Amino acid sequence: MGITIDQKRNLFALQMDKTTYAFAIDENGLVRHLYWGKKMSNINDLDVPVLSEISSNDPILDIVQEEYPVFGGMRYKEQCLKVNFADGTRDIVYRYESYEQNENTLKINLKDIHYDLTIQLNYQLYEDRDLIERSVTIINTGTEKIEIEAIYSGQMHLPHQALTLTGTKGYWLAELQEFKQSLGGSKMIMESRRGISTHHHSPFFILDHHATETSGDVYFGALKWSGNFKTVIEPRPYGTTLVQMGLNPHDCQIVLEGGTSFTTPEMIIGYSADGFGKMSHQMHAYARTYILKGGDRPVLYNSWEAMVFDVTCEAQIELSKKAAAMGCELFVVDDGWFGNRNSDADGLGDWYINREKFPDGLNPLIKAVKDSGMMFGIWIEPEMVNPPTQLLKDHPDWIYHFKNRVNDTSRNQLVLNVTKPEVQAFIYQMIDDLLANHDIDYLKWDANRPISQTGISRDMWVKHTQAVYEIVAKIKEKYPTVLIEACASGGGRVDYGALSYFDDVWTSDNTDPFDRLTIQKTYSYLYPIKAMRAWVTDHPYRNVPLPFKFHSAMMGSLGMGCNILNFTEAQMEESKGFIAAYKEIRQTVQNGNFYRLEHQSTNHYHLFEYVYQAEVLLFIFLPQANIDRGNVRVKLQGLDTEATYVFEIPKKMTTRYGDYLFANSNEEVFETRNKSGAFLMYHGIDLQLNGDYASAIIKFKKQ
Ligand code: DGJ
Repeated sequence: MGITIDQKRNLFALQMDKTTYAFAIDENGLVRHLYWGKKMSNINDLDVPVLSEISSNDPILDIVQEEYPVFGGMRYKEQCLKVNFADGTRDIVYRYESYEQNENTLKINLKDIHYDLTIQLNYQLYEDRDLIERSVTIINTGTEKIEIEAIYSGQMHLPHQALTLTGTKGYWLAELQEFKQSLGGSKMIMESRRGISTHHHSPFFILDHHATETSGDVYFGALKWSGNFKTVIEPRPYGTTLVQMGLNPHDCQIVLEGGTSFTTPEMIIGYSADGFGKMSHQMHAYARTYILKGGDRPVLYNSWEAMVFDVTCEAQIELSKKAAAMGCELFVVDDGWFGNRNSDADGLGDWYINREKFPDGLNPLIKAVKDSGMMFGIWIEPEMVNPPTQLLKDHPDWIYHFKNRVNDTSRNQLVLNVTKPEVQAFIYQMIDDLLANHDIDYLKWDANRPISQTGISRDMWVKHTQAVYEIVAKIKEKYPTVLIEACASGGGRVDYGALSYFDDVWTSDNTDPFDRLTIQKTYSYLYPIKAMRAWVTDHPYRNVPLPFKFHSAMMGSLGMGCNILNFTEAQMEESKGFIAAYKEIRQTVQNGNFYRLEHQSTNHYHLFEYVYQAEVLLFIFLPQANIDRGNVRVKLQGLDTEATYVFEIPKKMTTRYGDYLFANSNEEVFETRNKSGAFLMYHGIDLQLNGDYASAIIKFKKQ
């Protein structure tokens, strides 16, 4: 296991639990990709193919599978690096120089044969998760500047052409919509040009070869970056598919002065021989172990959907009392508490407490929240400014702008030039003051528009995101227990970059519990459940019963956003019951192995399973029954075949269609059953829900 190096042949094998990834240096000093797939303990069989051009139109440099192809020579495929040297040369010719290994990290040093340019390929192995983190460092070892026009985190070569891409498309309120597309003869690009990772495409790729949830080859990767990214997938004419990910070169240039270096965002890549389910387990476990900090996420109440900008101390205290009575553990005041913020037209940038709404500041509310036993959280949108504010009057040059151009406002706001040190200092100070003077446990960091009129520095696309990360890291360093949620008009910053600095992500402003099932399913492919904020609200697009709303939101980190001041006693009691039930299963939801269960029913059941230690949870949703109102046979996964599992199902059931069938998820009388893991996995149980928006959670305990 670990990194195996064949010194004689300059062959490097990254050996993981079930996967091998190998490359070698050839006689020309090129770093040649050799293999990525099922584990091969013996790497002696791996050869470095001798290359010859197919024809004068298929040159060697275009055919060869390189770990990091550069712009230079007869390479016409996608390249990872393009630079301008000071004398106008734009062609890189690199040769292997050396390697450095330290336990599970490996650096491959490449040097240009003439110019003072070092390219360092960085690999970090997560053996137990079958994952590799890759990044690249470019070092200008000379004195003259080098301009970087394109720099990706790496290129991968997949040993198939007939691959299917599982991608994400969408927009605001419809984030993370899954699409499947077979690769044909042309390139595919997914990208962001907006300064955030966006609602449109997520910075990840999933490519499979006839895979299902439980079988087949799946190659996948995600970029740790919340700004402009680009993913290129190119089926090659020579029999493989290349994938490359990294910073989007669109409108971007990074200048490396002599003696300086630049490191790309990391990307995390993996291979599963056992379908999409295994892929999710690898990534979720990696996120839980290496990325996410903090313990189980608290059940929150958020004021946004209930109050919008109309927040007042009195009403918030009232809300908080009801939230606490309901069992919420964290009370978050959303937008509207500061400056002249009565709509989205004013206030951003003037971060003083609005005294009309909070005459004695925030502390009376915080005290009430704490007295009722909850944590306190607050919303901020630090990268933005509204035109009428004092901040913009005092610092008109603090926004991104071009001379002689009018700035576009969006949601009535402009974007602060966060690459300026004085703007960074302002943002940090504002947050520091807020946290130093108030007992705050949670921040929701929002960003409600893309960036435009970006100013003359073309590296701002990179520096903006880096600055956001740095401020969050600095805040975390001083206030390590404060949890910070990343939000960008809903799911505009759902990515592994955000997850590496923030704690939670706001998945979407769409809180419709049925729409959420589709968003949450796609989210679950690579992103960890624990960080997925999901609320129960008053505003779905359809009339959905409270149990379905709760069950849908209980699939992630549960939150409540209803105007509970209007709740009846019965609704309060019902909500209290669901929140208590969530607390009982939260460990499993947030830390368990997650399964998207496939089934054969003609009815559109949505089935999800969580397994954690001895507990198994089955979430079952039926938004609308077909005319045949048929049952669904549910085959669980990830169980111990020899063990017995005890579970409770509503008593009102019949064996008419199969083994078990129940008619009403709200049925109060339950019956206890025992079945072996083998029965539950291989035979399965037959279940039926009736009516529209029916849902249930069934708990199984291993004996
Ligand atoms: C967009 C967020 O996604 C919402 O949850 C809310 O915080 C609003 N912004 C507030 O302006």
